[in-house]
Amino acid sequence: MAARESFYIATPIFYVNDVPHIGHAYTEVAADVLARWHRQAGDDTWLLTGTDEHGQKILRTAVANDTTPKAWADRLVADAWQPLLKTINISNDDFIRTTDERHEYAVTVFLQKLYDDGFIYSGEYEGYYCVGCEEYKQLDDLMELPSGDYAGRLLCKIHSIPVEVLKEKNYFFRMSDFQQRLLDLYESQPDFIQPESVRNEIIQFVRAGLDDLSISRSSFDWGIKIPWDDSHVLYVWFDALLNYITAVGYGTDQENFERRWPAVQLVGKDIARFHAVIWPAMLMAAGLPVPRKVFGHGWLLVGGEKMSKSKLTGIAPSEITETFGADAFRYYFMRAISFGQDGSFSWEDLSARYQAELANGFGNLASRVIAMVSRYRDGVIPDPGAFTEADEAIRVTERRATADADAAIERLAIHEALAAIWILVDELNGYITIQEPWALAKDPANAERLDTVLFTVVRGLGTLAVLLAPVIPDAAAKLWAAIGGAGDVTEQDVRAAYDWLGAPTVTALESSLFPRIEQVEPASA
Ligand code: ME8
Ligand code: MG
Repeated sequence: MAARESFYIATPIFYVNDVPHIGHAYTEVAADVLARWHRQAGDDTWLLTGTDEHGQKILRTAVANDTTPKAWADRLVADAWQPLLKTINISNDDFIRTTDERHEYAVTVFLQKLYDDGFIYSGEYEGYYCVGCEEYKQLDDLMELPSGDYAGRLLCKIHSIPVEVLKEKNYFFRMSDFQQRLLDLYESQPDFIQPESVRNEIIQFVRAGLDDLSISRSSFDWGIKIPWDDSHVLYVWFDALLNYITAVGYGTDQENFERRWPAVQLVGKDIARFHAVIWPAMLMAAGLPVPRKVFGHGWLLVGGEKMSKSKLTGIAPSEITETFGADAFRYYFMRAISFGQDGSFSWEDLSARYQAELANGFGNLASRVIAMVSRYRDGVIPDPGAFTEADEAIRVTERRATADADAAIERLAIHEALAAIWILVDELNGYITIQEPWALAKDPANAERLDTVLFTVVRGLGTLAVLLAPVIPDAAAKLWAAIGGAGDVTEQDVRAAYDWLGAPTVTALESSLFPRIEQVEPASA
């Protein structure tokens, strides 16, 4: 048997200063769809997510809430970040917290190695720092406003809050040594950073020259202690980026580490630089493979601006799932936004797509087909007679949808995968309209033709259930059970979806896959 291909995919680990909004859920869903697809294709899949818990931002939030950072993080993880994964049905294999023992230990192994190998030195840092970004800033990253509370002060362009002036003795990572190796990497592996817009921005940034990176802080102590100098804690990004390897065994389980790493990394474009510049430089210094890919997806916008915790424009994922369900949440964001580009969320667009695509296009197709097999053939899926061109065309579309969707997933073009699958939904609806099974059923002379038509649409539905299981797992499982699919739909090879296996019987759906929704906005909206 051929070795299964490894597919390791990771989301960023999110700050626990506040509760998640639909922007975080968006990254989670995209990673989950890709993971479920690869798992269903038989790849050796691992989906990692988690939380980023050290640093000044979390420390200050905890202090402001009269608690310790660890107690604060524990509460946010238990009450908000873990429940998010249930709300949107994420099938993660692990959840790492940067306060986990396993992480803290492996981080010190990594640091000590870089120190011993001469990639870290002690120096003096003088400059600006944004606690919102947890990032050292250049003047270019800052702005001044003519009026308001912060008039005349230097503000972070992202957070619109004053940056802090730092003058500290710090440890530095020799990042500038890696400028040429990074440029060579971007050149030799053109899909290392995607999409193209993010890749271009990163290349321009690195070409302009890299400074060494200050990686320790001594003015507070909420972080991992520097192993050779416990008066310093590690810079929160250096700590956080390492989660992708500490979670799969770096420093503790070499065999598992080699089995999983390198990963495909999904991040928002806000943090693509950390992942496509600092992170590969760190790995190169340690002699480890760089990620397979860093994909910087676009932003969900509210009123033209990035939805954010700090600007209080976040919408809680549960506001959407309580009305529409997790499947619709997942489908909507994957379908409506070209993966890689920004997108605006609106309740109108969500409910319009829900109604047209999920309820009418797909759900109704499933209900009608199952009802016809029940009514005309007592629930037994008939053997087909001779196939006509129209029937063959459906088979061709099933194969094409499968191949096109898989190719799109390979390019991380999740929206294109869904568009390819929806061609089959639309063609099945069109086929039923033209074939008129209800008319065929009126005349026993057409019995064989009706058998063939019913057979063809049930085959098509099964293919849809297999292809859609990674995106709308609950509805796909219900449909699969209703058409007598064998075992669990997730056991069907998604790359050969049209070859699905099942028993020749249908059972009525207990309810519509996507029931009509009367009130489309929550009362609070
Ligand atoms: O940056 N649209 O954490 P964070 C789309 N802890 N995605 C969005 C979004 C929006 N409006 N808002 C947030 C951090 N996201 C660090 C990461 S990784 C080693 C450390 C998503 O809580 C998107 O994935 O600020 C973005 O990159 C991430 O949340 C930032 O989450
Ligand atoms: Mg952020």
